[in-house]
Amino acid sequence: MKGFGSDNHSGIHPELLRALIESNTDHAPSYGTDVYSEKASALFKKEFGPQTETYFVFNGTAANVLALRFLMKRHEAVLCSNVSHLNVDECGAPEFFAGKLIPLPHDQGKLTLSILKEALIRQGDQHFSQARVVSLTQPTEYGTCYSLNEIKEITTWAHSNHLYVHIDGARLANALQFLDCTYKEMTTDLGVDVVSFGGTKNGLMMGEAILVLNTELAKGAHQQLKYIRKQSAQLPSKTRFIAAQFSSYLDHQLYLQISHHACEMAERLLQGLKQIPQVRITCERQSNAVFAMIPQAWVKPLREKYFFYVWDEKTFECRLMTSWDTTTAEVDEFIHRVQQLAR
Ligand SMILES: Cc1ncc(COP(=O)(O)O)c(C=O)c1O
Repeated sequence: MKGFGSDNHSGIHPELLRALIESNTDHAPSYGTDVYSEKASALFKKEFGPQTETYFVFNGTAANVLALRFLMKRHEAVLCSNVSHLNVDECGAPEFFAGKLIPLPHDQGKLTLSILKEALIRQGDQHFSQARVVSLTQPTEYGTCYSLNEIKEITTWAHSNHLYVHIDGARLANALQFLDCTYKEMTTDLGVDVVSFGGTKNGLMMGEAILVLNTELAKGAHQQLKYIRKQSAQLPSKTRFIAAQFSSYLDHQLYLQISHHACEMAERLLQGLKQIPQVRITCERQSNAVFAMIPQAWVKPLREKYFFYVWDEKTFECRLMTSWDTTTAEVDEFIHRVQQLAR
């Protein structure tokens, strides 16, 4: 059974599975001192710039939380959207490990400069958690993307106010499709300091990477982040298996092939749903998610074959997500079922 629940629901991309199998020979040194880790780190430098320092971890929540812990002190705070994964789906881990979150309103998932400016209050006031980081999700939880200008505007403002910029990039490659740019152009060149770079949602079996892009921070990461990672129980001993997947993902730009397919399938889904008058598209499609209000009575019969999430129980806004393994036949059959219900 397949569906539109999440790109998390799909299996391992065959090329990434091959990379796992090929790295499953002989013995390799542990804890990131193996040749696979060396190669993957070099590829991250190629994609994001030579200053990039890479720290592999097991999952996305850890990448976010450890990145924040690295960037801030316990009395400091993170400005993030109130729908961010950080705020609603990490069980308070950012607060537990790093510091306070200041959740803010959003526009289709995105923070804007005016929202951020309004939130930057009481700096220097000892009674108030001091904002130190702006965290953006790219693409957002609503599948929308910050433009390069929007990121630049935010990093410039953040740096002039002594704030760092973190990107939760669980699905970063999907934003490249919409923005038609490189990783470096979307992050390092715009002054982004740290990225949580996702693997699991993009075809890996599991594995994420914290990328420190800011040159000064990258120099210091070796004195801090490696200890933070170990203390937080996120240093994989058989790192080669995470690294081998990332090497394969980055080498020959497999990430573009995977993200292109997932986004194309989402566009097909969107175009099909748009033709059905009772369905209302609620968000612009800019990555591999489609948000739509579907009549409540249709949800149960549709989910019998193709599972998807009801995002908002009150409005029946639903999220349909495509993946590397979504087929045109599955999309077309789903649309056909919706059309049948519409009749
Ligand atoms: C935007 C975003 N960030 C972070 C994560 C965290 O990933 P994990 O479930 O691997 O901790 C997710 C997972 O769905 C996500 O969607």
